[in-house]
Amino acid sequence: MRLFHLLPLTITFAACTSQSDQPRVTAAEPEPIVRIETVEVCSNDLLAEGQHTFRFDTFGDEAFWGDQLHLHEALATVSPRTALAVGLKVDEEALPASLIAQLAAGEVDLDDPAVTAALLKIDAVVGVTGKFDNTGKLTSMGIQCAFCHSTVDDHLAPGIGKRRDGWPNRDLDVGKIISLAPNLTPFTDLLGVDADTVKQVLLSWGPGKFDAQLILDGKGFRPDGKSAATLIPAAYGLAGVNQHTYTGWGSVPYWNAFVAVLEMHGQGNFDDARLDSDQFPVAKRAGFAHVRVTEDRVTPKLAGLHVYQLSLAAPKAPNPADANAAARGEALFGGAAKCGSCHMAPAFTDSGWNMHTADEIGIDDFQASRSPDKNLYRTTPLLGLHTRSKGGYYHDGRFATLGDVVDHYDRHMSLGLTAEKKADLVAYLGTL
Ligand code: HEC
Ligand code: HEC
Repeated sequence: MRLFHLLPLTITFAACTSQSDQPRVTAAEPEPIVRIETVEVCSNDLLAEGQHTFRFDTFGDEAFWGDQLHLHEALATVSPRTALAVGLKVDEEALPASLIAQLAAGEVDLDDPAVTAALLKIDAVVGVTGKFDNTGKLTSMGIQCAFCHSTVDDHLAPGIGKRRDGWPNRDLDVGKIISLAPNLTPFTDLLGVDADTVKQVLLSWGPGKFDAQLILDGKGFRPDGKSAATLIPAAYGLAGVNQHTYTGWGSVPYWNAFVAVLEMHGQGNFDDARLDSDQFPVAKRAGFAHVRVTEDRVTPKLAGLHVYQLSLAAPKAPNPADANAAARGEALFGGAAKCGSCHMAPAFTDSGWNMHTADEIGIDDFQASRSPDKNLYRTTPLLGLHTRSKGGYYHDGRFATLGDVVDHYDRHMSLGLTAEKKADLVAYLGTL
């Protein structure tokens, strides 16, 4: 009988415990009622832990960004004005009241790099952690998920406000920031090219973009000569969505492990035998298919990160300027324009297998061919579109406006939409 009671409890803890050093079974004899309470408390803990990981955990990646690239040395010379100009954001809630008052009164010298260091010291730069020695000198730095996947509401000033987790930072010039690193040897060694070539690739990305596949296949540019980078996507509105990333690499926990270990260079184990392939010559050479570390600082965080990301609801759209047009657009979306055959409410991606061929959506297969499934694009969940108009639409921002997206579908699917109908569809998209 005792075993019968213990078994469900073990499963409960295994499912909601993310710290490997926590006990999997408690000594107390479990009653069913206790088990239910435990689940609820545990979920809340996981959510809070996931938020903390998303915002503040570097997974030990300062060993790469600081100790190897020496990016902190570049950061130490950067004024707050320059930092804001390359898209870094400042978390208002980390600022002491005195500093908020000084900012409001225009008394903070935004041209003084010492102010950047002071902001780093109080953990106010979103997604970046500075490491300081006891003389107050900046000795290293690491990055977090929030670096790319959070922004702020600009409440105090442009780039300074309350955190908005999950909103893609389309101002952040990741390539430019990395290109400032005094030592690019880790990239030149990995990619087998010289520093000028690495810089040329990094500077081709531009604001709001990053190329997660560069360190796998070494492709810096598309056949048409344009950058191979993709837009930073939303990390909200992902609950109920099957495949993740533009080309469907896998689930949220898969991709989180991938990013934390291979892109951020955190210390963690990682497995993906698909990378041991000639499709990914750089990854194959580097042994990315199986990464093993002595102290895994990533895997124990995946459950919390997963729960937190699924909890991030897409932001609500403002009321439409023309509610009638939006209503007509909604009818078209689900009807004659056939959008709803792939973008299904409520997440606005396909229920089930949400992958489609490049031909189905009428674009080239360059980016799709860089993922293990080849030739497939994932139906982008559309909620919160109004928060990500910067940088354009589709994985590489090829369509500057929603009107351009609708024109594309109209041509590709021979929908024969009139200008009015196209405008109605755009009005509806603005309400998602
Ligand atoms: C340097 C910028 C950067 C950092 C740091 C970063 N990401 Fe991303 N993230 C991206 C880009 C770019 C993509 C799109 C990749 C693709 O589709 O090939 C992406 C994709 C994703 C997706 C898929 C979203 C979707 O629409 O399905 C999730 C989830 C995600 N990231 C979560 C995270 C988490 C969690 C972390 C921290 C462990 C993280 N990212 C760190 C840039 C970043
Ligand atoms: C066959 C399935 C399919 C149909 C039908 C379809 N879409 Fe899409 N949609 C996709 C896929 C796949 C993507 C991702 C393309 C990419 O990122 O390159 C996408 C991307 C988008 C985006 C860009 C989202 C972003 O954040 O970049 C918008 C907007 C969009 N679709 C609207 C529509 C509208 C409006 C219609 C109807 C006219 C429609 N879609 C019909 C599959 C479909």
